[in-house]
Amino acid sequence: MENNNNNIYPVFDKMLGRADKEALLGQRGLMIWFTGLSGSGKSTVAIALERELQRRGILCRLLDGDNIRTGINNNLGFSEADRMENIRRIAEVAKLFVDTGIVTIAAFISPLRSMRQMAADIIGHDDFLEVYVSTPIEECERRDVKGLYARARRGEIKDFTGVSAPFEAPEAPSLTLDTSRLPLQQSVEEVLQLILPRINKEK
Ligand code: ADX
Repeated sequence: MENNNNNIYPVFDKMLGRADKEALLGQRGLMIWFTGLSGSGKSTVAIALERELQRRGILCRLLDGDNIRTGINNNLGFSEADRMENIRRIAEVAKLFVDTGIVTIAAFISPLRSMRQMAADIIGHDDFLEVYVSTPIEECERRDVKGLYARARRGEIKDFTGVSAPFEAPEAPSLTLDTSRLPLQQSVEEVLQLILPRINKEK
């Protein structure tokens, strides 16, 4: 028996695209990629930024070690290859959010230029803003919130960024924030000034 359905190609079987999502949300998707040493203040600025964007009615998604290294990347350590894979997966996940029109914030050490380059290549350079949290290592080590610098200095943690593994400062970041000099609210302000014109929230 002939099945008439075989000849039907409904237009609505096509996946909705980024423009549809952005129109729904009334905002543009964007990637804000924080890079910097452990203890530099990446997460603190990222969390405050997320709250400020939410307050302004902007939908955002924060990716950081707590939700990534305990979940999708819980099989990865801190060798160069594992960090590369960590960043690669994060970038692929972030791209899905950006392509959904969401302002996506990542807070990872991402210590090598090649890692950040890869992330920008995956996400798309036009959507990618690099924010370098440049707090000097002396200050990060003085804070030592997690006690990891002390352990790394004692040789208890190998490949620790800034102590026994490299960190390459970005050459041309969109913004540089030294949290030992800037109050938190001012760091958030500086990021906002950079991104608000690009998010284009209609409200
Ligand atoms: S990245 O280098 O792969 O980008 P990521 O940001 O995910 O690192 O994780 C960094 C966090 O893991 C640090 O803030 C610290 O709490 C913890 N950590 C544990 N071991 C190391 C290490 N060897 N080097 C750096 N951070 C480490």
